[in-house]
Amino acid sequence: MPELINPTSRLRVSFLAAIIEWRADRDYPVPWFVTDVDPPALVVPSAFDAYVARLLRERDEAADRAPGFVPMTTLWWTDGEHMLGRLAIRHRLTPALEKAGGHIGYDVRPSARRQGHASAMLAAEPAR
Ligand SMILES: CC(C)(COP(=O)(O)OP(=O)(O)OC[C@H]1O[C@@H](n2cnc3c(N)ncnc32)[C@H](O)[C@@H]1OP(=O)(O)O)[C@@H](O)C(=O)NCCC(=O)NCCS
Repeated sequence: MPELINPTSRLRVSFLAAIIEWRADRDYPVPWFVTDVDPPALVVPSAFDAYVARLLRERDEAADRAPGFVPMTTLWWTDGEHMLGRLAIRHRLTPALEKAGGHIGYDVRPSARRQGHASAMLAAEPAR
């Protein structure tokens, strides 16, 4: 049964496979969080650990962040070891995010679309 979980190094292989799919997607613009990662570099487990740590740090109000970025909680929609989608909850908005982006970003990997995952992950509560 799919669940919303915190980003974890455990899903490295499936996450990177999903990134390859998102990069090849011709139905929607490739989202920034996909262009932001370099799959060959993240194959190295320690590099993936650092990437996951960065995602978790992004929720910290006190963390350093690039201009225009706001504190944000990223959650992964997963089924066992299988990455299905991701959800990003922006803790507040900037004038630019008020115009485009808003509080929630969500993406389902192309091979998992049209199966109800977006609806389900938006309705789900994060696993404890
Ligand atoms: C939009 C997206 C999240 C939908 O994910 P999904 O898991 O396929 O969506 P679901 O299967 O839960 O479908 C939800 C509803 O949207 C509809 N829908 C989904 N994709 C659609 C499409 N391409 N065209 C028309 N309707 C679509 C479904 O029919 C369903 O409608 P219903 O509730 O009336 O039955 C996915 O296509 C995606 O990741 N797109 C790229 C990123 C994006 O646009 N994110 C949203 C804005 S941040």
